Amino acid sequence: MTSQAPDRLSHLLDLQRLSAAQMDSLLRRAQAFASGGQAPQALAGVAVCTLFFEPSTRTRLSFQLAAQRLGAHILNFDASTSSVTKGETDLDTFRNIEAMGVRGFVVRHKGDGAVAALAAAAKPGVALLNAGDGRSHHPTQGLLDMLTLRQAKGEDFSRMKVVIVGDVKHSRVARSDLHALRALGCGEIRVCGPQSLLPEDDTLHGCVVSQDFDAALEGVDALMMLRLQRERMAEGLVESLEDYHRDYGLTEARLRRAAPDAIVMHPGPMNRGVEITDAVADGPQSRVLNQVGNGVAVRMAALEMLLG
Ligand code: CP
Repeated sequence: MTSQAPDRLSHLLDLQRLSAAQMDSLLRRAQAFASGGQAPQALAGVAVCTLFFEPSTRTRLSFQLAAQRLGAHILNFDASTSSVTKGETDLDTFRNIEAMGVRGFVVRHKGDGAVAALAAAAKPGVALLNAGDGRSHHPTQGLLDMLTLRQAKGEDFSRMKVVIVGDVKHSRVARSDLHALRALGCGEIRVCGPQSLLPEDDTLHGCVVSQDFDAALEGVDALMMLRLQRERMAEGLVESLEDYHRDYGLTEARLRRAAPDAIVMHPGPMNRGVEITDAVADGPQSRVLNQVGNGVAVRMAALEMLLG
């Protein structure tokens, strides 16, 4: 497959600012990388910093690997061992690293809009990539999920029925996935979870919303399971892990309600035995590790688009 780098944006803060054509172009480029396409040294001599104010395994490491494959210099900033612990502000932290000549920042932050705020302060030519902010956006997760769906089900999203299950209210992954699925013309988007974990704003517009997991599974082509954020129990939004598993845990028996060739996705980290059983997570329909692998390819395409 041949593919060109998509038109350049200044930053990748969310998927709303990407046109459907840019999203498609990014996905094609990512597929070329995923298929073993030659990685150009597009970032040779460019310094990229992973600026994480929140923990991460998949996103941070796959961005680092992606940048390395494109020839970049990588700086790894960890807030817990930095001068943030002495009271330095996020903005001062960013400006100091920017002053070292770093041109690319991959930023994760617990605050909604925190990455966009840093982007607004960036010098011309400096690009920020949102690696997850608050409950708002996780654009590269959305893209890697779409790539995983395309690989399994083809490029025609209008033929797909997809269900997103769990704590949608607090999930930046769900918001980015919902936006991407709509932009790519997904045939039917179902959303399922306890009422206490479903958003009350217009996040779910156009979706078929249900609290009945068994009904929501009927005939779907793909399931996107979300992590139950355990702190939601402390907030009283979930009765107990056992109740949650009984009502919304994906078991092999439940999975049989979906289309026979349905795929199971989860952004990780998984709560095994809560939202998903071991048998499903490690079973033949699971694409969880394909998602992780696709993360490297998608992040190469995104870094190349912004900094190449
Ligand atoms: N999916 C995801 O964002 O995982 P990490 O928190 O490990 O980066």
